[in-house]
Amino acid sequence: MFQSPYEAIGGEQVITKLVDAFYERVAKHPDLSPIFPKDLTETARKQKQFLTQYLGGPPLYTAEHGHPMLRARHLPFPITPTRAKAWLACMHEAMDEIGLNGPVRDELYQRLILTAQHMINTPEDER
Ligand code: HEM
Repeated sequence: MFQSPYEAIGGEQVITKLVDAFYERVAKHPDLSPIFPKDLTETARKQKQFLTQYLGGPPLYTAEHGHPMLRARHLPFPITPTRAKAWLACMHEAMDEIGLNGPVRDELYQRLILTAQHMINTPEDER
C-alpha cells in the first residue's frame, strides 16, 4: 500500500537525528535560546513525538499529551516573525546536516513553513 511520509522519511531513526540536530542549533541561536529551556531534553522528546504523528506515524504526542493545540501551547512564548524565520532556518540547516533530501524533505519543509507562520503571536517590536 501507500507509504506514509513517516515511512518515506526513514521513521524513528531519521526523526531522532533531525530533531537532535535541530535543537543543537536552537540552543545556540541568539533569537531562540532565550525563550527555550536550558535543558532541551524534554522539549526534544515531545518534538520527536509530535513530528512522528505530523508525518502520519503513530500518534505518540497525542497519546501522552492530548490534542496538540500547538498555537495555544505556544502562546506563553513571544513568537515574532524573526523567531519564526530563525526556527525554520535551524530546521533547514538540520535537514542539510543529516542529509535529508528529496520530495519528503520538501513536503515537510513546506508544511513547517505554514505551521511556523501560524505560531506567530507577537509583532516584531514587542519582544
Ligand atoms: C514547544 C518555540 C514553532 C512544535 C515550544 C516551546 C517553545 C517553542 C519556546 C516550549 C519548549 C518547552 O518548554 O519545552 C517555538 C518557536 C517557533 C516554534 C519560536 C517558531 C515559529 C514550532 C513548530 C512546531 C512546533 C512549527 C511544529 C512542527 C512544538 C512542540 C512543542 C513546542 C510539539 C512541545 C509542546 C509541549 O509542551 O507539549 N516551541 N516553536 N513549534 N513546539 Fe514550538
